[in-house]
Amino acid sequence: MLILGIESSCDETGVALYDTVTGLVAHRLHSQVAMHAEYGGVVPELASRDHIRRITPLIHEVMTEGKRTLTNINAIAVTSGPGLSGALMVGTSFAAGLGAALGVPVIGIHHLEGHLLSPLLASPRPSFPFVALLVSGGHTQLMAVEKVGHYTLLGETVDDAAGEAFDKTATLLGLGYPGGPALSACAKNGDAAKYKLPRPMMASGDLEFSFSGLKTAVLTLKNKLGPLDDTLRADIAASFEAAVVDVLIAKSLAALKQTGMTSLVVAGGVGANTRLRERLTQGAAARGATVYFPPLALCTDNGAMIAFAAAMRIEADPNVLNLSQTSFSVMPRWDLGMQPETLET
Ligand code: KG4
Ligand code: ZN
Repeated sequence: MLILGIESSCDETGVALYDTVTGLVAHRLHSQVAMHAEYGGVVPELASRDHIRRITPLIHEVMTEGKRTLTNINAIAVTSGPGLSGALMVGTSFAAGLGAALGVPVIGIHHLEGHLLSPLLASPRPSFPFVALLVSGGHTQLMAVEKVGHYTLLGETVDDAAGEAFDKTATLLGLGYPGGPALSACAKNGDAAKYKLPRPMMASGDLEFSFSGLKTAVLTLKNKLGPLDDTLRADIAASFEAAVVDVLIAKSLAALKQTGMTSLVVAGGVGANTRLRERLTQGAAARGATVYFPPLALCTDNGAMIAFAAAMRIEADPNVLNLSQTSFSVMPRWDLGMQPETLET
């Protein structure tokens, strides 16, 4: 079965073809980072308009690369939430139109489910059950994943998401947008032990996170230090990154302990962070657990994870194909534990 995956929930247009027998056939991505950079963040209206411009050419590109035609498609998977409503509307309306034209089912996928299952696209792949650490620009959550569609929230951030903290701190340090990659690149030249920043809620005894105080601590430190040169900036970036990573590791290991599970998957944009990847792998190994990451190129938003999540859902329950979306409603806010058929839209 050939599945076309479409992702347009935020500032990346992602399109992919996934074959349920042979695996990922082709995937293409257009990042809007350069377009939003001058505003210091994502401008929703510009994001929607750009998705409209990109989606058709990207689909042609994956068809050409995968040596397939539209008539080979058996199902379309599209992100229907959470995310920016206008941006989601572009992908979902396009998918509904194409699905109707081709006479194939359209399956709405939760963006975080795409992230959460994406480590299964790598090799070696984890087997169920596992703990998932979802660390993106909008979410920081620990989930217990029993099997496809069975996700239990163990803990989440009470304020900023980890990616959001990276982005805001990068802005404070004058590192531009998007902050995560810029801050971690800057941190590579810094001394992570230079400034002792707080590790919020690390000893709270639960699996909740909080990152907004850390950002404030960086602001206070910056004001105390005065004008920043490259060395100061790198040392603050490294100290900040170490604090976030320490908290993410402590909570992830605590989640493994609490659930008795021995596999941890990390997904979402912050999963691209080198320090997190290295330290978490070491920390888990020391406790007899294994950490799995998506392929680096599939850490941030992409269409492959959406097509793949649909493939996993169809494999778990072929009836999913009969729940095909005939309209194109979107869920800008959507709890992963809740399935679309139970939602009021
Ligand atoms: O999953 P994603 O692409 O989009 C959302 O669903 O939010 O994640 C984007 C987030 C941004 O906050 C970005 O700054 C962060 O992931 N990010 C990183 C790195 N690469 C991306 N954070 C830390 N280190 C990185 N290398
Ligand atoms: Zn994402």
